[in-house]
Amino acid sequence: MALQARQPSGNEVRIALPADPMKTLSIRRPDDWHLHLRDGAMLRAVLPETTRHFARAIIMPNLVPPVVTAADAVAYRDRILAAIPDGATFEPLMTLYLTEGTDPADVAAAAACGLVKAVKLYPAGATTNSSSGVRDLTRVMPVLEKMAEIGLPLCTHGEVTTPEVDIFDREAVFIDTVLDPLRRRLPELRVVMEHITTEEGAAYAAEGGETLGATITTHHLIINRNHILAGGIRPHYYCLPVAKREKHRLALRRAATSGNPRYFLGTDSAPHVDALKEHACGCAGCFTATNTMPLLAHVFEEDGALDQLEAFASLNGPAFYRLPVNKDVLRLEKRPEPNAFPEKIASGAGPVTVFDPGFPVHWHVLP
Ligand code: NCD
Ligand code: ZN
Repeated sequence: MALQARQPSGNEVRIALPADPMKTLSIRRPDDWHLHLRDGAMLRAVLPETTRHFARAIIMPNLVPPVVTAADAVAYRDRILAAIPDGATFEPLMTLYLTEGTDPADVAAAAACGLVKAVKLYPAGATTNSSSGVRDLTRVMPVLEKMAEIGLPLCTHGEVTTPEVDIFDREAVFIDTVLDPLRRRLPELRVVMEHITTEEGAAYAAEGGETLGATITTHHLIINRNHILAGGIRPHYYCLPVAKREKHRLALRRAATSGNPRYFLGTDSAPHVDALKEHACGCAGCFTATNTMPLLAHVFEEDGALDQLEAFASLNGPAFYRLPVNKDVLRLEKRPEPNAFPEKIASGAGPVTVFDPGFPVHWHVLP
């Protein structure tokens, strides 16, 4: 059969290839190891987009006010459970938002009863709703020492916020000046580098050993900074950490498709209503819950690595978090007709634009 191939020049050519042997794919049901569900009307609108394909998700705690204590996490978990659509099964894996006032005993109790699976470090000012985050890491050392002792992972938003550091360099500088010194000081601490966006991040994670994991988003496998800035500013591609230049996207593609257990899927699906994205000071976040799995199948197939999709989306995350792999499966099928993703989903708070990959996607998730 004839497939279309893209030459480096961008010209389409038709070349004869043997029939595609793999049109369907069955993988263990995936999990999302970094997800923003928000609250209230937005929670009710976006949760079904995740429960359709994913069995579990690590739930980010950056609400306003943030999810700081075990009691906050119980209450938020109950609101999420109440919003799960009829017939769906989904387990929210709760996290606590680390502040300079966090009590190590509260964290330890929340972990011991299984309520909380990680604590999230937001450097103050790094991203959406991070103003209660950490300014001085020495102030949270008692919490981090307790987490190292009990094996509770620290999820890091890995960007420095120093104004002098260029926004495109913030991840690499964070690794050198914050993450690496912290891991040397507390080698037992289990750390997830959340949403890595650079070849430096991918390389550091590759060498990190079993105490280190790294999540990679769907959108950072697809867009580079040109998508945000060339030919007009495109707010729906603006997220944090901001997408970098092409060589970094390619490094993330190699990492995600490598099968290396250090890397796993965290979509960082982060809904904001259009009015706040299409704004003079637009919010950061790409909403990818709806179409992540077809997009990943497309990406992994393009890189000749469909056989690694299960490791990335369904196996490596549970292994890091010491949780069982899901028993049921997700089936995907490649069809001649492209997927018709909704352009937007409605929420009681306003419309939310679904991430547009900019190319047709022929992989469909089977019901
Ligand atoms: C996230 C959000 O909107 O909460 N935004 C984003 O661009 N990813 C916060 C975050 O994960 O940085
Ligand atoms: Zn996030």
